[in-house]
Amino acid sequence: MQEENDEEKRLKRFPQKKVSKTFDKVFDEETLNTIHKIATAGLIDSLEYTISTGKEAYVFLALDKAGNFRAVKTYKTLTSKFHNMQKYIEGDKRFKNVPREKKEIVREWTKKEFKNLEKLSNANASVPFPIGYKNNVLVMEFIGEKGKASKTLKEVGVKNLQQAYEEITEFIAKSFYLSGLIHADLSEYNILVKKEQGKEKLVVIDVGQAVLKSHPKAEEFLKRDLQNISNYFTKKGLEKSEEELRKDIRKWKEKLL
Ligand SMILES: Nc1ncnc2c1ncn2[C@@H]1O[C@H](COP(=O)(O)OP(=O)(O)OP(=O)(O)O)[C@@H](O)[C@H]1O
Ligand SMILES: [Mg+2]
Repeated sequence: MQEENDEEKRLKRFPQKKVSKTFDKVFDEETLNTIHKIATAGLIDSLEYTISTGKEAYVFLALDKAGNFRAVKTYKTLTSKFHNMQKYIEGDKRFKNVPREKKEIVREWTKKEFKNLEKLSNANASVPFPIGYKNNVLVMEFIGEKGKASKTLKEVGVKNLQQAYEEITEFIAKSFYLSGLIHADLSEYNILVKKEQGKEKLVVIDVGQAVLKSHPKAEEFLKRDLQNISNYFTKKGLEKSEEELRKDIRKWKEKLL
């Protein structure tokens, strides 16, 4: 009987209609319970729209009680890429025991993304502000304009390439020198272009795989990030070699430390 009541409450809270297209795929019973707990804790009040349905995670636009927009990232518990996740968790000294069970790995991953967002926010690096997490669900600041999610750098590009380059250099420097983190999946696909009063501001997302500098593969991951960024700007007409990018990042060191 209790279960029925919970279900009724849930249906009242979440307008099933709007997210119905992805409903069955995302909301296995456990995820549903988790979202319910997150709502009960006051982090969100309603799920409104589906922003993205990816291979590993779905992202929704939610509202909290005060009417603030929130982004809710829900990792699929049966993700096919969990071997990939293991690679990033192993070697991260924050995870002493690497879980073997898929569900546990996804939970650790969600927690890691939250902790990484916290570290980066503390360093004032441009990422969505973390609000909370539970199990496989992460709640963060919604990056968008009036409920419309910002597009990725890949999708929309920027008017001012030089400024964008400086913002990304600043992001990498703050992550590295202040948070001690390497993004490890940095590219135009994981950078959102937020439009604010006619200006463009870059916000870096998808930080679940970010690793500490002490990770055995840190240099390899950093090199790949720098190559992606160097390729992007060079392709767009602002030629920047990996070496130049490294130099520009180093210039931040004194300013930051
Ligand atoms: N805080 C946010 N605010 C607005 N939109 C967001 C936010 N976080 C993510 N998104 C949107 O969701 C998309 C997917 O997010 P993200 O890159 O974090 O997931 P992902 O791990 O790449 O998922 P997958 O690889 O399964 O596609 C982004 O490209 C962006 O459009
Ligand atoms: Mg992504």
